[in-house]
Amino acid sequence: MLHPSMVNIKVHRRPVIVYRPIQPSDLEILERTHGELFPIRYESKFFQNVVNGQDIVSWGAVDQSRPNEQSDELIGFVTVRIIPSKDSEVEDLLSFEASRTDQTLVYILTLGVVDSYRNLGIASSLIHEVIKYALSLSSCRAVYLHVISYNNPAIHLYKKMSFQCVRRLYNFYYINGQYYDSYLFVYYVNGGRSPCSPLELVTLFVTYARSGFKLMAAKLWKNKERMISKWPKYKESSYLLPTVPTKRILTNEGSRRQFV
Ligand SMILES: CC(C)(COP(=O)(O)OP(=O)(O)OC[C@H]1O[C@@H](n2cnc3c(N)ncnc32)[C@H](O)[C@@H]1OP(=O)(O)O)[C@@H](O)C(=O)NCCC(=O)NCCS
Repeated sequence: MLHPSMVNIKVHRRPVIVYRPIQPSDLEILERTHGELFPIRYESKFFQNVVNGQDIVSWGAVDQSRPNEQSDELIGFVTVRIIPSKDSEVEDLLSFEASRTDQTLVYILTLGVVDSYRNLGIASSLIHEVIKYALSLSSCRAVYLHVISYNNPAIHLYKKMSFQCVRRLYNFYYINGQYYDSYLFVYYVNGGRSPCSPLELVTLFVTYARSGFKLMAAKLWKNKERMISKWPKYKESSYLLPTVPTKRILTNEGSRRQFV
C-alpha cells in the first residue's frame, strides 16, 4: 500500500530533482518508503545507520518544485556499504588482484523511487552517483547488488546501466513462505574485472590466432608483391594466374584489400 501523499500523484509540473546525502530528518519518510517499496522488512537499526551515515553511504533525491513542506522530502534513495572484497561473496568474480587485502567493493543495499516519480531517470542518476563514488575510491574494484529474479524494471535498469549479470542464485530470498531466485549484477571499476571464463579464453585464443594469421598472410603477400613488382608483366600473370587469370586477379585483389 502506498502512502496517501504518494498515491496517483503523477508528476505534472516540471520536477526539479536534486540529489543529496540522506540525513537524520529523513528518517520517517525513509522507513515509510522502504516499507512501501520492498517486500522485505528492514530493522530500525538499518534506518538509523543510513541517516547517521554509520557504515552506510546514501544519496537521496528530492523534488524542489514541490510545495515548501515537501520540497526536501525524499522521493528516491540509494544506500550502499563498502565491503572488503575478501569478505564478499563475489571475490571469485574479480581478477587475481582480489587476493590483495586492501581491495574493496561497493554493495548496493537498497534503491527505490516512489511510484509517481518513476521513469524520469531518477534511479539511473542515483546509480551514477554510486558509480562516481566507487570510482573515487582507489581501492574499489566493483559495484554489485542482488535483484529478485522477477523484478523486471530493476533488471532492465541495471542492464541499461551496463551492469553485468554474473550469477543466478537459486532460492536466495525467502519471502512470506516462498523462495525466490536472485541475480547478481556487477559493474567493474578502477581496473577491476572478472577472471576469464573458459569460453572467453577460447574466444581470445581464436581472435589472437586469427589476427596472427592475418598478419602473417599480409607479410607474405607484401613480400610476394615486392618480388612480383620486379617481374615483367607476363611473368606476373604466369606466376599468379596459371589457369584462370581474370578470376584469380580478382581474388587476389580482394585478399590484398583485406590484408591492408
Ligand atoms: C527499479 C526502480 C528503482 C527504477 O526507478 P526509476 O527512477 O523509474 O528508473 P529510471 O527512470 O532511471 O529508469 C527506468 C528504466 O526502466 C524501464 N522500466 C520501467 N518500468 C519497466 C518495466 N515494468 N519493465 C521493464 N522496464 C521498465 C524504463 O523504461 C527505463 O528504461 P528506459 O530508459 O530504457 O526507458 C523503481 O522502479 C523502483 O523503485 N522499484 C521498486 C523498488 C525496487 O525494485 N528497487 C530495486 C531493487 S533491486
